[in-house]
Amino acid sequence: MSDSDSELALSALLHENRQFPPPAALAASANAQPGIYEEAAADPVAWWGRQAEELSWAEPFGAVLEWDLPFAKWFLGGRLNVSYNCLDRHVEAGRGEKVAFFWEGEPGDTRVITYADLRSHVARAANALTALGVRAGDVVAIYMPMIPETVVTMLACARLGAPHTVVFGGFSADALKGRILDCDTRVVVTADGGYRRGAASALKPNVDEALEGCPDVRAVLVVRRTGQETAWTEGRDQWWHDVVEPQSDEHEPEAFDAEQPLYIMYTSGTTAKPKGILHTSGGYLTHVSTTHRLIFDLKPETDVVWTAADIGWVTGHSYIVYGPLANGATSVMYEGTPDTPDRGRWWDIVEKYRVSILYTAPTTIRTFMKWGEDIPARRDLSSLRLLGSVGEPINPEAWMWYRRVIGRDNCPIVDTWWQTETGGILITPLPGITATKPGAAMTPFPGISAEVVDNHGDAVGPGEGGYLVLTQPWPGMLRGIWGDPQRYLDTYWSRFAGSYFAGDGAKKDEDGDLWLLGRVDDVMNISGHRISTTEVEHALVSHPSVAEAAVVGAADATTGQAIVAFVTVKGTTIDTGAEGEALVAALREHVAREIGPIAKPRQIFLTPDLPKTRSGKIMRRLLRDVADKRELGDTTTLLDPGVVNSIRDNMSGGEDDEG
Ligand code: WTA
Repeated sequence: MSDSDSELALSALLHENRQFPPPAALAASANAQPGIYEEAAADPVAWWGRQAEELSWAEPFGAVLEWDLPFAKWFLGGRLNVSYNCLDRHVEAGRGEKVAFFWEGEPGDTRVITYADLRSHVARAANALTALGVRAGDVVAIYMPMIPETVVTMLACARLGAPHTVVFGGFSADALKGRILDCDTRVVVTADGGYRRGAASALKPNVDEALEGCPDVRAVLVVRRTGQETAWTEGRDQWWHDVVEPQSDEHEPEAFDAEQPLYIMYTSGTTAKPKGILHTSGGYLTHVSTTHRLIFDLKPETDVVWTAADIGWVTGHSYIVYGPLANGATSVMYEGTPDTPDRGRWWDIVEKYRVSILYTAPTTIRTFMKWGEDIPARRDLSSLRLLGSVGEPINPEAWMWYRRVIGRDNCPIVDTWWQTETGGILITPLPGITATKPGAAMTPFPGISAEVVDNHGDAVGPGEGGYLVLTQPWPGMLRGIWGDPQRYLDTYWSRFAGSYFAGDGAKKDEDGDLWLLGRVDDVMNISGHRISTTEVEHALVSHPSVAEAAVVGAADATTGQAIVAFVTVKGTTIDTGAEGEALVAALREHVAREIGPIAKPRQIFLTPDLPKTRSGKIMRRLLRDVADKRELGDTTTLLDPGVVNSIRDNMSGGEDDEG
């Protein structure tokens, strides 16, 4: 985000002064009651200690926190099994027949899975992984569609103390390979494919391609989901139904240290190499279960929660799998896309399962707005009582639409700010307490300390904008970057002394409430997915025709930001006409291959030169102005000020419509 962006956002928000108090009935019985903020603030560490006692510990913890900046340990000496907490303890308490998941496949097939069922599936999978040689501490890679076996595999890993790394099914073979190598994985769990947009979409071929560069992987466990033709490597590949299903459904969970690694999730940073964000067990589970209970006001006996996100992202980990299951909730899980077979699919699902808590991303809400309110209006959405938003700043217009059309003006909206690194929600309204403002994430969750600071790290005053920082450790925080403690320190803890810098800009309004303004670094946010400009540039210049590339995030009405690339080609002439168009198409495909379809640039402009400073740095700020069709900012440090104008004059081409 450039300075001009944040100023624009700031002034736009100054005009927003609507406020919505909680519905009285919800407030009266809300899990979080007024007083909770003061109670937590009196001693945040002790407050988190009390939340942790909601979990089942095999060995009680001693000290709640050991903080040696930037390294935290939570719940010292405590031992627990995450999978036991998500499954067995509910079954033992007589809730085995309660539904854990209503699963709906895209073609319309369904599965109802109780806590007892899920415990049996997980026990079998844990026995199978053990038979494949997986031991505590080994990293298992998961590359799967949105099917129950994905959850089963995650929990089986957790049961064994073997951290998992789930790689989003939309990532390419190359991205998968990079992650497998980075965490030295020996076992991969995948499926033949999954259903998307009405067709079977293969996954296994990407695994096969990735594994050509991963000689140490000895076993690939494959779920048969679509039944499509699947290439097979004898000795390495094994069908899930052959290996998992015959196993015993008894498995004794071992208790692990509270700091046992639970998972690694890769996310984009400001360099080309994705960061393996490490989360551990006791603190993470405490954080996600507490936030899920209090922010979504979860009543496990009666609610049906639908976190409509992919399990391959952190939102799926924390609020489809670990938070809801630790709380004994009933969830909906849907495999496919919102417009299959038609644009009413989501609302059919809400009506069918009587979903009461819906959690999704602003980009999806804006898509539904575009499709028209008559579509949800034709369904019975009266079961909904609370709505959530996550992934990017939600614009007031989308917020109001969500409230009116989906929430029928009587569901509180919780706009929840957090990151892969934070593990769980940190800034959010509480639904029975907060009078919400359209577009504001409002206040730090109880027990969380956040501040908005200026360039020098000093807190800004009311009505001012700056950088969002976290000033105290929190239980779900990342414990580091896999294999790279120095990068962990440099990335998060060096910009502002003593504080975690999130990379986001924020504004504190006159009441002290927080409004998130988007990224301030070179990380774009495309439909709520983080992609670094450097990563895409890296992919572009790996193409033989490309000399240099500069990538920026441009404003986009649906996806929040869209990727725009400026590319200079090797040789002397700029490619124009049909040849140029063919190259642009080839480059978009190339990026999809290198990273995944989500990273495909919306537009690529071929240009003879890029604007550079005298010292040779590409001035992305100017390219952002160009991409957003804004007045150019200061150009005095440019080596050749004519370059930007000629790029602008050439900008008629390069458009492409598909995502
Ligand atoms: C952005 C997703 C504004 C932010 C859970 C953050 C948000 C990045 C919000 C993390 C929100 C997430 N309001 N911005 N409510 N939620 N963001 O790691 O820029 O995929 O840094 O985690 O998304 O994205 P990530």
